[in-house]
Amino acid sequence: MKKIIALLSVAVFTSAVFAFAAGDAKPELRPAQKIMQARAAWLTAMSENLVANRFEAISKDADELVAQTNKVGENVPNPLGKELTLAIASLAKDISVAAAGKNGETVKVKLGEIKSKCGECHAKIRDKK
Ligand code: HEC
Repeated sequence: MKKIIALLSVAVFTSAVFAFAAGDAKPELRPAQKIMQARAAWLTAMSENLVANRFEAISKDADELVAQTNKVGENVPNPLGKELTLAIASLAKDISVAAAGKNGETVKVKLGEIKSKCGECHAKIRDKK
């Protein structure tokens, strides 16, 4: 009898933990997080496609990054944040052009420059809050 009660309590406890974990698994993302995660995904994809010489795919992701950062950048209230976001748009445009010309070296350099702009905003604006 004691054994059954013990087993039952384990079962109840376990299902409570699972129910909690399931409810907790997908917290709703803030709009800024969705924007940022899309940027990170494009950068990762472009780096992978550079290694694989898939220049067309790089152009496509670069164009998406251009469009998103131009759109978002116009409405960034912080002047430095706006400048950095629009600088990313401009660098992404450079990547699109370089990829169209299959110029991998330029793509690589510009990807690095974009990453440093992302980092600058995170260090100077995001992490200061
Ligand atoms: C204008 C400033 C700014 C720029 C530029 C910027 N970020 Fe962010 N980033 C933020 C802020 C602010 C947050 C926090 C958003 C939040 O938690 O709501 C953030 C959060 C993130 C996160 C975490 C998202 C999450 O799931 O919580 C990632 C990943 C990220 N940024 C990637 C990037 C990449 C990649 C770039 C460059 C292509 C970039 N960011 C450029 C300001 C910026």
